[in-house]
Amino acid sequence: MATQIPTKFDINTTYTMSSGYKIPVLGYGVYQTPAAQCEEVTLHALRTGYRHIDSARAYRNEQPCADAIRNSGLRREDIFFTSKVPPKSLGYEGAKKSIESSFFQTGLDYIDLYLIHSPYGGKEARCGAWKALAEAQKAGKIRSIGVSNYGVHHLDELEEYIKSSGVGGTIDVGQWELHPWLPRNDIVEWAKKRNVVVEAYCPIVRGERAKEPVLTSLAEKHGKTWAQILLRWSLQRGFVPLVKSVTPSRIEENAGIFEFELDQEDMKALDFPDSYAPCAWDPTTSHD
Ligand SMILES: NC(=O)c1ccc[n+]([C@@H]2O[C@H](COP(=O)([O-])OP(=O)(O)OC[C@H]3O[C@@H](n4cnc5c(N)ncnc54)[C@H](OP(=O)(O)O)[C@@H]3O)[C@@H](O)[C@H]2O)c1
Repeated sequence: MATQIPTKFDINTTYTMSSGYKIPVLGYGVYQTPAAQCEEVTLHALRTGYRHIDSARAYRNEQPCADAIRNSGLRREDIFFTSKVPPKSLGYEGAKKSIESSFFQTGLDYIDLYLIHSPYGGKEARCGAWKALAEAQKAGKIRSIGVSNYGVHHLDELEEYIKSSGVGGTIDVGQWELHPWLPRNDIVEWAKKRNVVVEAYCPIVRGERAKEPVLTSLAEKHGKTWAQILLRWSLQRGFVPLVKSVTPSRIEENAGIFEFELDQEDMKALDFPDSYAPCAWDPTTSHD
């Protein structure tokens, strides 16, 4: 059954993944957050109320994220931490080493979510990486597993591999660039049909659309900022937005999305079903 989108959200709202574990609905991203600054800003996010940190081996800041988790005074089980197999480490051995490295870097007892960062590398590499993730999940080291930047053809390939190989694992989460100018309705529909939780990266389009008239008018209507409008849109589409900021006031602003609601007309004003305008890379279209 597809995940139900709640009618009311707060910062503690969670979705239940196919793994049975829960994922907090608002994530704090740390791509391009310098390692030296990462513990301090992540601690600020945790103090603000975020309980979900999205890192990756490629970001080179897993360790300061884990330091923030340890030094936050919060219980480990109340914080959700994600890392990812780097694009160049796919394949069974590469993914196994990646997982080992994440545990070495973080010193954590378990990792909440581990994703394949991108589908680059060919079928054998993608399937091998999945096998390594499924084994780590079975061993209890990683609680939930999934993919990022997979196109529908990659998702079909993985679904077929899971069915035919017996390696196990379900796709608990998928992570994609998603915002009104990149709604990816085909991928989202594929995921929702299978209870795959959809995470939205670049949810505020890295600030590139800040001056769009539709955002200015919705921001004025609700007394909110353009960034808050985009994050609220993401929540109301049923996504888990992962927003990055190293600026304390923006970290707080981006969490201020729970006490207002976009109405049907607002959501329609942000509905551009045919738009395809990524602001980051787009591995979903790769065919290797
Ligand atoms: N799986 C993937 O391939 C992939 C790819 C990209 C991103 N991600 C994940 O998604 C997260 C978010 O994506 P992203 O960092 O690329 O883009 P984003 O969250 O859409 O935008 C971040 C940018 O917006 C600025 N910003 C943040 N809040 C703001 C606000 N309220 N007002 C104005 N500007 C604001 C930030 O500046 P300051 O930091 O200077 O405040 C930063 O430059 C990443 O950190 C990462 O965890 C995953």
